[in-house]
This record gives sequence, C-alpha cells and structure tokens, in this order.
Amino acid sequence: MYTLGIETSCDETSCSVLKNYKVLSNVTISSLKEHARFGGVVPEIATRAHLENIDKVLYLALRDAGISLKQIDLIAVTYKPGLMGALVVGLNFAKALALALKKPFIGVSHLYAHLFAPFLNAAEKLKFPFLGVVISGGHTELYRVDDFNKVKILGQTRDDACGEVYDKIAKAYGLGYPGGPVIDGMFNARYKEDFKFKCGRAGFDLSFSGIKTALIYKKIELEKKRQLTRDIKIRLVSSFQYAVAETLLATILEAANKYGLKRIVCGGGVTANQYLRQRLKMNESKDITFLLAPLKLTCDNAAIVAGLGFYLYNKKGIKSVIGLEAEPN
Ligand code: KG4
Ligand code: ZN
Repeated sequence: MYTLGIETSCDETSCSVLKNYKVLSNVTISSLKEHARFGGVVPEIATRAHLENIDKVLYLALRDAGISLKQIDLIAVTYKPGLMGALVVGLNFAKALALALKKPFIGVSHLYAHLFAPFLNAAEKLKFPFLGVVISGGHTELYRVDDFNKVKILGQTRDDACGEVYDKIAKAYGLGYPGGPVIDGMFNARYKEDFKFKCGRAGFDLSFSGIKTALIYKKIELEKKRQLTRDIKIRLVSSFQYAVAETLLATILEAANKYGLKRIVCGGGVTANQYLRQRLKMNESKDITFLLAPLKLTCDNAAIVAGLGFYLYNKKGIKSVIGLEAEPN
C-alpha cells in the first residue's frame, strides 16, 4: 500500500511516499533562509512559501518514488499542532487530493509523528508501551504511549520549548538561525561546567525560560565589559547545552523509572543534538533502551507523518472526515 504524507506545520514543506513502512521518497523544501534575518519563523512568510512550493514538492516526491498520483492509496497529513496558516495549506491540499482521487485521508498529530521516526523502514520493532519524548522547536513533552491512539502526557515545558531556547540564545549572541545546529557545532565538552547554568523542573514538567534569561543577561554583562569574545561564547553555549542535556536526561530517566517504561522513544529537531544523543545512548542498560529518531528524520518531514498515518489507518481502522479542521495547539 502506498501512503502519501504531507507536512506543512511550520517552515518545512514536505511530501513523502511510503510503501507500507518503507520510505520511497521524502522531499522537503524549507523556507528557513527567508526567516533567518528575523531570527525566528515568520508565520506569513512560512504560509506563502508552502503555497508556492507544495505542488513542486509533491511532484518531486512522486518522481523519486517512481509512482504516479493515481497509485496512492492513502493520504496522511499533519492537522495539528503548528502555525494555523501553514497547517491549512497542507490540510486543504490533502483534502483536495483525497476528493479528486477518491482516496481515504487521515489527519495526524505532528508531535506523535515525531515518535514514529525510529519505526520507519522497519528499523525498530513497534512495541507498546513506551515513554515518548518529543523535543522540538515548539514542544518539549513526555508521554506514556500505550498505542499511537492512546497517549497520555506526563510532563511538558511550562514556558519556552527546548529548541526555541536554542534559537533565541543563538539570536541574542548573533550566531545565526536555527540555533540548535549552530550551538551543537560550537559545543566543547571541556567547557561544560565553566558556567553553572540550571534549567527549571517541577515533577516531570520543565522550564527553559530561566536559563535563556541567564544567558542573555550574561551576554549584556560581558558586552559592557567588552569581554564577549568568540572563545567566551563557546564556553557559554557549551555550559548551556550541558545543563539542558543533563536536565532532559535526568527527567527522562526518572519518568521511565516511575512509570516502569523500559523503552524510550525520542524524536523532534533537538534530538539531532550530538551531545544529547551520546548521553542518552550512554544511559542504556538492561532495563532501558533508547530508540532515537534517525538523524535525517529528527526534524520536520512528511515520512514520519505518512508512517503514523498508515499505522493508524491500517492497524486501527482510523480515517478522517473531510470536515477535519486544523488545530494550531
Ligand atoms: O522538530 P523540528 O524540526 O520543528 C518543530 O516541530 O519545532 O525542530 C526544530 C528545532 C529548532 O529549534 C532547531 O534549532 C532545533 O530543532 N535543532 C537542534 C538541532 N538541530 C535542530 N537543537 C539542538 N541541536 C541540534 N543539532
Ligand atoms: Zn516538529
């Protein structure tokens, strides 16, 4: 069975074709560069870029997969959460295709789609329950996943998302956008405790706005003293990344322990982080297994949407009605 996946929740316009769980194509055009000078995603720019690119992305995804539109059996699309205008472009595109092709369509949560990444291409065996961890630019959430239609939230950020803080700190320090890969590239473990930064925690809820403010104040202070050199920036962001990764790791391990979950599935843009991946993997034991999204599937893409859509349709008999509306939250 061929599934077409469509993802437009933020700044990536993406289409993918799967044959069952095998990824035949996964094409993404990002409007990232258009947002760079603003230091964050501008919703209107993202929406317009989706409108401009979606036809082309679909064409390329079908071409790469070597199939025609008529061969598609199911259309899966992100309908939540994300930027309202951006979601509407993908959702309406999916509905129009479903009506024209007379094929079923299914709207999926982009967040749960991130948790499907390790299972594509049958890389890992899908077994429940597991602790789901989504760490992205818009969300930082922990779930108990008994099935993909039976998900319970265990903890979340009370303010900024983890990736958002990477982006805001990089913007404040003039390092570029998106901040995650830049800071990841600057990280040097030698400097991880040069500055004592802390993230907030209450149970399994997290808070990242305090550490963001601490880094911004530090920048202002050092700038006044004319001490904000590249070397100091490297030391600061290394200490920041260390504090973030260790807090995430501790929270994840405690949640897994409390809820008796031995498999931990992690996805979302921030799980591309080299130090975080290394720390998670180092903490595997006979009781704990980490299933990390493959690197090229950590950020937003349509293959994860198609995979989750196919699973829910095929295994759970779920499909969406044509009146399905986009939900930004
Ligand atoms: O999942 P994603 O593509 O989009 C959302 O659903 O939000 O995540 C994007 C976020 C951005 O904030 C970006 O800075 C962050 O993921 N990111 C990283 C890395 N690569 C991307 N954060 C830390 N380290 C990275 N290597
Ligand atoms: Zn995402």
